[in-house]
Amino acid sequence: MDNAVLGILGAGKLGTVLARLAVAAGYRVLIAGSGSVEKISLTIEVLAPGAQALTAKEVTEKADIVLLALPLGKYQTIPQAELQGKIVIDAMNYWWEIDGKENTISDFQTSSSEVVQNFLKDSIVVKAFNHMGYHDIEDETRAAGENQRKAIAYAADDDTAGNTAAQLIDDLGFDPLFIGPLKNGITLEPGSPLFGANLSKEELLAAIQQFPESEFGKKVIAAREVL
Ligand SMILES: NC(=O)c1ccc[n+]([C@@H]2O[C@H](COP(=O)([O-])OP(=O)(O)OC[C@H]3O[C@@H](n4cnc5c(N)ncnc54)[C@H](OP(=O)(O)O)[C@@H]3O)[C@@H](O)[C@H]2O)c1
Repeated sequence: MDNAVLGILGAGKLGTVLARLAVAAGYRVLIAGSGSVEKISLTIEVLAPGAQALTAKEVTEKADIVLLALPLGKYQTIPQAELQGKIVIDAMNYWWEIDGKENTISDFQTSSSEVVQNFLKDSIVVKAFNHMGYHDIEDETRAAGENQRKAIAYAADDDTAGNTAAQLIDDLGFDPLFIGPLKNGITLEPGSPLFGANLSKEELLAAIQQFPESEFGKKVIAAREVL
C-alpha cells in the first residue's frame, strides 16, 4: 500500500512480528505498548528495527490503519476518539491465560471482533491475523520465499475496509481469504478447528468446507457460502 502508515497497538509477540514484516514491506510503522515509549524502545529497536515507538494515543492519531495486537481483555483501553473513521484490523483473541478463566467478553454466539466493533462505533473493524501463531507468521523460510505462501483469513462487513485488510495481508506475504461478514470471524477464534491454521489458501478453504454440521459448524457454513 503506497505510503500507508500502519499503527500497531501492542508491542508483544504478535505486534513486533507484524511490525517487522510491515517495515520489510515498505510501510511506515508506528507501534505502542500499554505504557511509556521508553518501556518498549529497546524491544522495538531489536525486534522491529525501522518501526517507531510512540504512545498508544499518538499511534492512533497518526496512523491511517491501526492493527490491534493487545490482550482482548484490554480492548476498552483502546483510544476511541482518535480512531474515528479509521480502518481497524483486529487480531485479538480471548485467551484464558491472559484474559481470565471465564470469557465474559465474547462467546460462541458472538465474535470478539463484533464486541470490539461495538466499542469502536465510529471505526470500521476487520478481523484478521488472529488465527495463526506468531511463530508461524514470522516463519523465516516462508519470508525468504522457500516455503509456499500461507493464507490469512479475514472477516469484514465493509468492502473497502476488507480490501484494505486484504492488501495488507498480501503485502505482508500471505494470501488473503475472505470468509464473509465480521460475525463469521467467530470461525477463526480459539475453540474453532480453524484456530491455529497455518495453511495455504487451498488448504484453508478445504478445511472450512469440511466442517461438520454442528451448531458451531453452521456458522462456518455461513462463512463458506460467501467464499
Ligand atoms: N501470540 C500469538 O501467537 C497470537 C496470534 C494471533 C493473535 N494473538 C492475539 O494478539 C494479541 C496480542 O498477543 P501477544 O501474544 O502478542 O501478547 P503479548 O506478547 O502479551 O503482548 C501484548 C502487548 O499488548 C500491550 N498492551 C496492553 N495493553 C495495551 C494498550 N492498552 N495499548 C497498547 N498496547 C497494550 C502489552 O504492553 P505491556 O507489556 O506494557 O502490558 C504488550 O506489549 C492477543 O489478543 C492475542 O490473543 C496472538
